[in-house]
Amino acid sequence: MTRYIGILSGKGGVGKTTSSINLGSALNYFDKDVTIVDGNLTTPNIGLHLGVPIVPIHLHHVLRGENHINESVYLHPAGMKIVPASLSLNDMKTTRPDRLPYVLGSLNGTTDFVIIDGPAGLGKEALAAIASSEEVIIVTNPELPAITDALKTVKYCEELGRKVIGIVLTRTKPDNLDISLKNIETILEKPVIGIIPEDKSVREALTRKDAVVYTHPKSKASVAYKMLAAGLIGRKYEPEVSEDSWLFKVLKKIRLR
Ligand SMILES: Nc1ncnc2c1ncn2[C@@H]1O[C@H](COP(=O)(O)OP(=O)(O)OP(=O)(O)O)[C@@H](O)[C@H]1O
Ligand SMILES: [Mg+2]
Repeated sequence: MTRYIGILSGKGGVGKTTSSINLGSALNYFDKDVTIVDGNLTTPNIGLHLGVPIVPIHLHHVLRGENHINESVYLHPAGMKIVPASLSLNDMKTTRPDRLPYVLGSLNGTTDFVIIDGPAGLGKEALAAIASSEEVIIVTNPELPAITDALKTVKYCEELGRKVIGIVLTRTKPDNLDISLKNIETILEKPVIGIIPEDKSVREALTRKDAVVYTHPKSKASVAYKMLAAGLIGRKYEPEVSEDSWLFKVLKKIRLR
């Protein structure tokens, strides 16, 4: 059975694409077969983050009914499979986001996880990404504007009958967890299932067009993504960070619940 997980936020730039790629890479580290789909149909992200060269068949061909989804799946050197979207303006103008759930349905049984990197906002493309998912992870920064948008997204997903499995807090620092975990969970009425620290390795991986879990396996962000992945599949994973660090303490806090 394939699990379809949408990565949504509401607010832009909070770390959805980074999380889609690195959750995918971390699940792959635990031997899961993962397919990451670019749900940003008008402003594609995955190809830019992972340095996918111009490919002959991409998601827009599939949405137009010209090709089967299996023809648009490419294996990334980091180990996960990806379905990139087109960078062309013409493809963008003529795309049909409403067909996304239908075409992604054909991946069922071909992979353990389909991870859909959702767009910012709650427009047509976000609706398509949510409709294509059975489970949703909400990514937010620990700041009020992002959390307000996250709340709207939680409600929207639930109205559409999707299961919001939890919140991933990204770009956290010891001094920006000003809204406490407890408050965030109270506002969003969902558990925090991942805490990803601000980490310069993420930028370095982006420069190398690769997943940080793959390029910097021992970095703090990498350890935090592996922790998130382990939680999703019920696997045990001891974080490889110093027991004195604030990250170890917060990761331990969410793991113990
Ligand atoms: N843990 C982190 N540490 C440092 N930088 C990070 C971290 N997570 C994400 N970033 C950086 O934040 C920026 C935005 O991240 P990303 O593109 O993943 O956000 P997004 O939510 O997908 O944005 P959009 O809404 O535009 O699609 C990127 O430059 C990324 O490298
Ligand atoms: Mg993105």
